[in-house]
Amino acid sequence: MEIIRTVADMKARAAAWKAEGLSIGLVPTMGSLHEGHESLMDAARAASDRVVVSVFVNPIQFGPGEDYEAYPRDLERDARICERHGVDVVFHPEVDDMYAPAHNTFVVMETLTDSLCGASRPGHFRGVCTVVTKLFNIVQPHRAFFGQKDAQQLAIIKRMVADLNMNVTVVGCPIVREADGLAKSSRNAYLSAEERQAALVLSRAIFAGKAAVEAGERDAAALKALMGGIIEAEPLARIDYVEVVDGVTMQPTDAIGAMALVAMAVYIGSTRLIDNFLYEEG
Ligand code: PAJ
Repeated sequence: MEIIRTVADMKARAAAWKAEGLSIGLVPTMGSLHEGHESLMDAARAASDRVVVSVFVNPIQFGPGEDYEAYPRDLERDARICERHGVDVVFHPEVDDMYAPAHNTFVVMETLTDSLCGASRPGHFRGVCTVVTKLFNIVQPHRAFFGQKDAQQLAIIKRMVADLNMNVTVVGCPIVREADGLAKSSRNAYLSAEERQAALVLSRAIFAGKAAVEAGERDAAALKALMGGIIEAEPLARIDYVEVVDGVTMQPTDAIGAMALVAMAVYIGSTRLIDNFLYEEG
């Protein structure tokens, strides 16, 4: 396995692979890798001749006062994990190489980014769409793998690839959870022992909401009340949003339709965690 640290070297490597007719699978990450990321690597490995994992904490998707500086970084550990999963290249560029001082072009999506995390984190998806576009241009993947954990991000990337005619197939992968239900996240590392316990309200609310929908609940307000009630019972939890949106457009909806995303963001102490489930009829 090789660690490539410059955009120029990564482009050259991808071009050489393409010339040999090899297919490329890309897993974009911000590092601090866990089993969620590992499941994406395994899916990429199974579907591609060559697998690239990008490890890049993307400054432009963090807002002022968010955790860009604090975000956990440990490339050596990440590289060991990638190696274990048969990754060919870890792409770990410098910020200045990705964003030259004169950088002035951004990818901005319209309504899909208005709701959920886009409403709470202005500019976040502009940063995500821009960096993912750049990674696609640099790595030239045939397939790119994203987690359902960040359901709005996945919907937005699929929309962007379709809208801009990008030559990549976006593959969505299921949420990986801890044994007790908590969705795996790099940000779980911020939680104290007491907060870690309190964080279980997210998955408890998700499982309860899912069970209610499977039992026939179709009213978004009733579902939000049920899930919100579970979260509010936990003193360390503060709701950012609990929302029901159309699974494709990401626009809020009053009734659970053929494809609905039920998503939440909750602060546990000062750590913001997200979780969701997708309901598809039939
Ligand atoms: P990051 O938070 O590192 O996540 C990288 C990928 O791992 C995303 O596609 C995310 O959905 C997936 N992932 C995280 N936790 C998961 C879990 N518990 N189960 C399944 N998949 C999980 O998302 C980003 O980085 C960035 O926004 C990025 C796309 C790299 C752009 O900077």
